[in-house]
Amino acid sequence: MTKPILLVTRRLPSHVEARATRDYDARLTASDTPIPDIVPRAAGASAIICCPGDHLDAATISALPASVKVIATFSVGYDHVDVAAAKARGIAVCNTPDVLSVATAECAMLLMLAAARRAGEGERMIRTGAWAGWAPTQLLGTGIAERRLGIFGLGRIGREVAKMARGFGMTVHYHDIARLPPELERGATYHASETTFLPVCDVLTLHAPGGDGTRAWLDAARIAQLPTGAVVVNAARGSLIDDTAMIAALRSGQVAAAGLDVFNNEPRLDPGYLTLENVVLLPHLGSATVETRDAMGFLVLDGIDAVLAGRTPGNLVL
Ligand code: DGY
Repeated sequence: MTKPILLVTRRLPSHVEARATRDYDARLTASDTPIPDIVPRAAGASAIICCPGDHLDAATISALPASVKVIATFSVGYDHVDVAAAKARGIAVCNTPDVLSVATAECAMLLMLAAARRAGEGERMIRTGAWAGWAPTQLLGTGIAERRLGIFGLGRIGREVAKMARGFGMTVHYHDIARLPPELERGATYHASETTFLPVCDVLTLHAPGGDGTRAWLDAARIAQLPTGAVVVNAARGSLIDDTAMIAALRSGQVAAAGLDVFNNEPRLDPGYLTLENVVLLPHLGSATVETRDAMGFLVLDGIDAVLAGRTPGNLVL
């Protein structure tokens, strides 16, 4: 029997590619960078697996062949896919919720500790041979225990961060579009207003979706409302931060340190960050564990299987 054609825009973990090849006529790529020509490669395809960094905008989606029934993104974030344009063409969109929440929360904690405790500077000191030995005043950072953690977006990933942060003795505050029920809030303090939220964020961590609704949310005006010397963490989307304002705040000390895993215009981040010692920079590896990436791949394939079988997948983007 002829297998449906599946276009894959990036190299995937080997177990995921093995299942894709077993069940589909899979057009794989050996490349870790986005393929430039999705539309011609999609000729005859029933499904596409895309990734952050691909641009499935309205123009691209409108040019896709009529054979395409589902676009599944190998990510929980789907700000690179114009979902409305896909819906208008009757193309289902799936993503990878839940399976990456713990890994991404671990990455946020990694950034939080690394930024607050100046781990990047310390590592550079050793690697450049500049370390002269232990000293009482060397690389003094701030602890996170007993500090107030502000979570912007208490969704699945934000709640995993809250759980981990409580283990470090942090007090959890959050701002979101609506208050969560007590079993999800688990003692976190809700702030309906940014005006009460931002001043309690000794550490602010961002876990809201990207896209137009949150673009440059952390701008100069909001940064000014943080406590002086706050720590900022972003493992969500680079578009949440106004880079010019953040770089100015890192220079002035209004933000003492930041830990960033995601950037505007990845991979060409604002070069201003590279000049600063007090920012820890990671290359968008929030979900990058072997087991998480396998689970993400299997979930996108589950979604495609369901759509092509006429079922509604659990990971359909609504
Ligand atoms: C996502 O899933 O949206 C991440 O950014 C990549 O893991």
